[in-house]
Amino acid sequence: MKKLMAANWKMFKTRSEAEETARTLLSKIDGKIPEDREVLVAAPFTSLCAVDSVFGGKPWFHLSGENMYPAEEGAFTGEISPHMLKDCGCGFCLAGHSERRHVMGETSEFVGEKVSFGLKSGLSMILCIGETIEERKAGKVQQVIDEQLEKGLADVPAQILPERIVVAYEPVWAIGTGEVAGPEEIVEAHTFVRKKLEKIFPEKFNEIRVLYGGSVKPGNCAEIITLDNVDGVLVGGASLDGESFSQIVLA
Ligand code: PGA
Repeated sequence: MKKLMAANWKMFKTRSEAEETARTLLSKIDGKIPEDREVLVAAPFTSLCAVDSVFGGKPWFHLSGENMYPAEEGAFTGEISPHMLKDCGCGFCLAGHSERRHVMGETSEFVGEKVSFGLKSGLSMILCIGETIEERKAGKVQQVIDEQLEKGLADVPAQILPERIVVAYEPVWAIGTGEVAGPEEIVEAHTFVRKKLEKIFPEKFNEIRVLYGGSVKPGNCAEIITLDNVDGVLVGGASLDGESFSQIVLA
């Protein structure tokens, strides 16, 4: 299973800034990426084509949407369909990022609809899960992860190829705060995710990638990436700079 080194640019960068960052990243990592790693960039809708024009055709690269609406087309002002993402070169899309859940108010059921519709439309999906600090303090980490996985993967067909589903464990309290989860907290959560995946996909749970996200930086990535059941990282802040993300990719 190849490790997935994923960037999430959130609502940052104009087209020209995105293209420049992509060019810097490409120049630093092309020809140096280990065989067992892949790179993904989730970019704002307006920059997807610009990023695709830089990386398009690199076999180790995946372009991703940050969000989508679970319908083919229609009267959904302001929304983007999986078909439109594919048209811009995307093979992946995020679903259930904590900012979508907690700022935009998306429910686990709606996230599950996006995951199943995205898969049905031919995208691979990255389901983001994770607890808030209040939930952690209340001892509810496993309960929250269990519910988000259960509902997020509710309608995924059993025959799905394992490489088309990625789970990203991102404790909300570690996102953008500089407060990275400790190795024990990461291993505990990822082991729980793996066990839950075993119940849902008994034949392929070991081939589904589970990423860690939350204040990953060039200085802590090398340690995180070697932890048990960590199959890659999802990086926000430290991915906005091409040089910094290149160090993470090659860590
Ligand atoms: P961060 O964000 O790396 O800035 O903590 C991670 C994410 O939101 O995916």
